[in-house]
Amino acid sequence: MRTKVAIIGAGPAGLLLGRLLDRAGVETVILERRSQEYVLGRIRAGVLEQGTVELLEKAGVSERLHADGLVHDGVELCFDGERHRFNFRELIGRTVTVYGQTEVTRDLMQARDASGATTIYRAENVSLHDFDGDRPTVRYVKDGIEHELACDFIAGCDGYHGASRASVPEGSIRTFERVYPFGWLGLLVDRPPVAEELIYAHHERGFALCSMRSHTRSRYYVQVPANEKVEEWSDDRFWDELRRRVDAETADNLVTGPSIEKSIAPLRSFVAEPLRFGRLFLAGDAAHIVPPTGAKGLNLAASDVGALAEALIEYYAERSSAGIDGYSARVLSRIWKAERFSWWMTSILHTFPDTDAFSRRIQRAEFDYLRSSDAAARSLAENYTGLPI
Ligand code: FAD
Ligand code: PHB
Repeated sequence: MRTKVAIIGAGPAGLLLGRLLDRAGVETVILERRSQEYVLGRIRAGVLEQGTVELLEKAGVSERLHADGLVHDGVELCFDGERHRFNFRELIGRTVTVYGQTEVTRDLMQARDASGATTIYRAENVSLHDFDGDRPTVRYVKDGIEHELACDFIAGCDGYHGASRASVPEGSIRTFERVYPFGWLGLLVDRPPVAEELIYAHHERGFALCSMRSHTRSRYYVQVPANEKVEEWSDDRFWDELRRRVDAETADNLVTGPSIEKSIAPLRSFVAEPLRFGRLFLAGDAAHIVPPTGAKGLNLAASDVGALAEALIEYYAERSSAGIDGYSARVLSRIWKAERFSWWMTSILHTFPDTDAFSRRIQRAEFDYLRSSDAAARSLAENYTGLPI
């Protein structure tokens, strides 16, 4: 089998890249380790920047997003029970859209299936070869049979634990990492959200987040130690802990119910450099990880593949390699801005094992500064709603 671009991974990065290339007449094959149902069962991100919405429009998959997505003008931060709203629309004229990653993925999968483009699910033992030469190939096993896919380029969109980054020789790649000593325990429930906008709460007992998927489905998170087990958290224990970390009004208004999903996500900051190795490109979580506090992971994945699609389309249309040569530097500049913002949001909102009285006061002072300075609030708004590529 032969194609122009072999894409590893059918998460949002791989599917969106496939769709943008497909629409420009550049043929792709996607290889995904899991089944379609498994990919759709993963509950992850919820907040889309305007730039991500525009890319999904360009990809022709924004109909349901515009019908069902919730446009939010701002978010609230809550410190030890005191809430403050940051109105992004008023501050800088921008908004975000709440629409689940699962739905983005579903829309992209449906569009790909309808277009007839090839996606191979349950592709096992994916391995990448000869991407430093002119004729890269990808090998995989499907239903016990080994296959080889020849291509012009490989896009590594297979997430943090994927095969793509792992196949780059150690001496050619540099990585930067910070692992946080806590995770987020998330709970999904078919009950109306407690508030119209997201509430990010700092509390001595730890961080909490009130988010949502729709007017009838809510997503809540509480910070837990890194080695916590989800089985130790009954729904009642979760709701009690959440109530303790938010302000009294939010605690009173919370509509609880049986969880429909509950899982723990570790928190990590990670960047690989560079993101191009001959004819292999890394994009999305394969290239970088941000802690979810800044709501940036999915948005970065989208902006990476937006830039990569442009570069590859330019290559095929004009036989110019300027775009692919500049890909890594172009996206890394935005990635580091998002890394900085996500790290900062994480450090002011969480309780660290070594948080002492001084660091607590500094966290509080950050909150007071954000509340009192228009410039600081505008900076928060700019970073949260989207960074220029
Ligand atoms: P993935 O979604 O990880 O997709 C990679 C795909 O590659 C997977 O389908 C995987 O099965 C496949 N794969 C892996 N290895 C192989 C292999 N060897 N061969 C073939 N296929 C392989 N981001 C935001 O922007 N906003 C948020 O609000 C937000 N909240 C989050 C909340 C939580 C709890 C978590 C965990 C993440 C959150 N994120 C958020 C981050 C966001 O979900 C990720 O950044 C996003 O999924 C990245 O997309 P991706 O396509 O790069 O990677
Ligand atoms: C979510 O709804 O899952 C979500 C929202 C905002 C974040 C992280 C996760 O910062």
